[in-house]
Amino acid sequence: MPAIVIPPGVEGIVGLRELPDEAWDDRWDRIFVSEAMKDRLRNYMVFSLRHRHRLREVALPMHGLLVLSGPPGTGKTTLAGGLANRAAREIGSPILFVDINPHAFPSQLLGESQRSVARLFERTLPDLAQRGLPTVVLLDEVEALAVSRTGASLETNPVDVHRATDAVLAGVDHVARACPNVTFVATTNHRAGVDGAFLSRADLIEEVGFPGADAVRTILVDTIRELTDAPLDEPELAVLAEACAASQIDARQVRKLVLRAVCDRRELALDPTAIRIADVEAAFRAERDALEAAV
Ligand SMILES: Nc1ncnc2c1ncn2[C@@H]1O[C@H](COP(=O)(O)OP(=O)(O)OP(=O)(O)O)[C@@H](O)[C@H]1O
Ligand SMILES: [Mg+2]
Repeated sequence: MPAIVIPPGVEGIVGLRELPDEAWDDRWDRIFVSEAMKDRLRNYMVFSLRHRHRLREVALPMHGLLVLSGPPGTGKTTLAGGLANRAAREIGSPILFVDINPHAFPSQLLGESQRSVARLFERTLPDLAQRGLPTVVLLDEVEALAVSRTGASLETNPVDVHRATDAVLAGVDHVARACPNVTFVATTNHRAGVDGAFLSRADLIEEVGFPGADAVRTILVDTIRELTDAPLDEPELAVLAEACAASQIDARQVRKLVLRAVCDRRELALDPTAIRIADVEAAFRAERDALEAAV
């Protein structure tokens, strides 16, 4: 499904498309987090898209807001898109996916960002929701949009930053009431920097962590399979996965280790099908030594 053209002058929106899209299946299938978490995410999204419009606000206050929190490189942004794509398949109806990035707003000076945030939530998103499709809105890196309004932050941030947070809160409330077909997915790698009232509005907060040994193993195999179908040494793989998990490297770095192995050896750059676990293990040790030397 091709991306829909974003109307000119709409600030904050960096992507707009209809899902499902086969090209997006990987964003769900190849992001390895616990099955229990994936089940909860799927259940939440299906319930929100199917039933939220029937709920009464006071009896079951549902904002249609899911938060994925966790360190960089753990799959939050990818999973958000993958979840919307997966949900579209499960509910058997196309979904409109709206990608909002706080860095696509104008400068946070002169009240401009507060105005454009308000415009986004009060006009643009309701207009998009009016198309009638179940709509998933990604608020990526939400710590830059709903900046925590604590005392310390008040001292270091211009007052406009806090006004923008107020506008986000009012905006989420407005969309929750006026557009029951909209569900937000917010991501953050800095939960402490997100405003408490924003987090309080979340229906579900999932902590996506560093991959454990089993997940590292799966990610390594999945990445190496991009290059070769050759059999892999299982005991070496198990040892490497344990070592990666013990050093708390994130999933993105696990995949990049395979790339590092290719960069380390000319033969592999020329013929990546020759890659073996020992090469990735050597890359891991080299990275670890470089890191230790830097500290
Ligand atoms: N849990 C995971 N399983 C498999 N691959 C992963 C996982 N997490 C991240 N990756 C790999 O890293 C890439 C980047 O992940 P993504 O950008 O979604 O992370 P993020 O948590 O949003 O990071 P950031 O906080 O820096 O924005 C993914 O496209 C994928 O290749
Ligand atoms: Mg991200």
